[in-house]
Amino acid sequence: MTTPLPLEPIETASRDELAALQFERLKWSLNHAYENSPVYRQKFDEAGVHPSDLKSLADLARFPFTTKKDLRDSYPFGMFAVPQDQISRIHASSGTTGKPTVVAYTARDIDTWANLVARSVRAAGARRGDKVHISYGYGLFTGGLGAHYGAERAGLTVIPFGGGQTEKQVQLIQDFRPDIIMVTPSYMLAIADEMERQGIDPATCSLRIGIFGAEPWTNDMRAAIEQRMGITAVDIYGLSEVMGPGVASECAETKDGPTIWEDHFYPEVIDPDTGEVLPDGEFGELVFTSLTKEALPIIRYRTRDLTRLLPGTARTMRRMEKITGRSDDMLIIRGVNVFPTQIEELLLKQHALAPHYQIILTKEGPMDVMTLNCEPCPETAPDYGALDAASKQLAYDIKSLIGVTAKVNVLEVNGIERSVGKARRVIDKRPK
Ligand code: DLL
Repeated sequence: MTTPLPLEPIETASRDELAALQFERLKWSLNHAYENSPVYRQKFDEAGVHPSDLKSLADLARFPFTTKKDLRDSYPFGMFAVPQDQISRIHASSGTTGKPTVVAYTARDIDTWANLVARSVRAAGARRGDKVHISYGYGLFTGGLGAHYGAERAGLTVIPFGGGQTEKQVQLIQDFRPDIIMVTPSYMLAIADEMERQGIDPATCSLRIGIFGAEPWTNDMRAAIEQRMGITAVDIYGLSEVMGPGVASECAETKDGPTIWEDHFYPEVIDPDTGEVLPDGEFGELVFTSLTKEALPIIRYRTRDLTRLLPGTARTMRRMEKITGRSDDMLIIRGVNVFPTQIEELLLKQHALAPHYQIILTKEGPMDVMTLNCEPCPETAPDYGALDAASKQLAYDIKSLIGVTAKVNVLEVNGIERSVGKARRVIDKRPK
């Protein structure tokens, strides 16, 4: 067995060394944003702050937030802070409504990104000679190309499959025998289903590690995937506005939430209602400030992702707790706040049911109605008694633990639409 790939010195630097580096870089980043992006200059001026007001890391709290709306309002290129001829690449995230959010990278930004994804892949336990099968979509989505450049940078062999063509994914996994897969957790399940359909036991495939992200997934889902695939599953986090995959990533030795690559991104957690910065350990909305990005510096970007900051374990850098959900994904059903991940956790306790699900919201008169569509596991599909018991137990658990009534609807095997990227967990049919 080959030895693990070595860490970078900054990954184990002391908190003081890290804070000193963050402060220097933060001053640079605020200045760069103010001097080169009219949008930031106007925002800082309106808030009555200047980059020279930053005397300590805590002073960042005096600067205004950036939101998706700022990016949309300056669509497509209004927030870029370098001339066009210095931009190497553009990505965009589609969003469900309106215009896409457009982001840009200089050659140096692309280089930093590759280094951070390489760091993430090493943290996942990659070893020299590993082959990486990438099933994140290539294109404007940051998943495919972000993973690709990073895995190459780590010195691994990359198989750039992209999303879709599930049958063929399985064939190439069988034939090329990759050690690592990078894919959304929901699409991993679709690939595992296809393996089983072809008579292959997923646990016998060559994969050793899965690097999963781009959507919320629970620790119960992690356990289910690990067991079924016979792999170690780690969580990679990121968002296009801040960079793409690799803003934070989990270390295989602890698997206790993604370590934030704090030498490039300064995290804060805020109270989403008041904007107040919360102490580490308290739940709220994650906010990021880029420390080195050139083409699109991002200052106090409100991610809408809900989590809390935790002390470092495998590294000195802080961790974030596995994301529960986004504030935009929070469902309010008859006044009760519900995240799809809470439903996922309860669904995964029912072993007669498969881990695929979709939540449908409708109205009956003035009342919200939540229907949870799920599927039987292929082996329990013919056992109506077991399925009936599982769906009743699930409805009971949802009512008693979350506090909402759900109609649990067990469809047939493959009854839930499979996405090749991020799963669509909620269909809200309630009139607006
Ligand atoms: O999803 C970047 C990415 C690609 C991350 C591949 C990881 C792997 P966006 O399309 O801009 O970028 O979506 C970003 O996805 O704000 C979160 O809500 C969600 N998200 C990303 N990673 C995770 C994760 C990519 N590990 C949005 N856990 C983010 C939970 C995640 N949610």
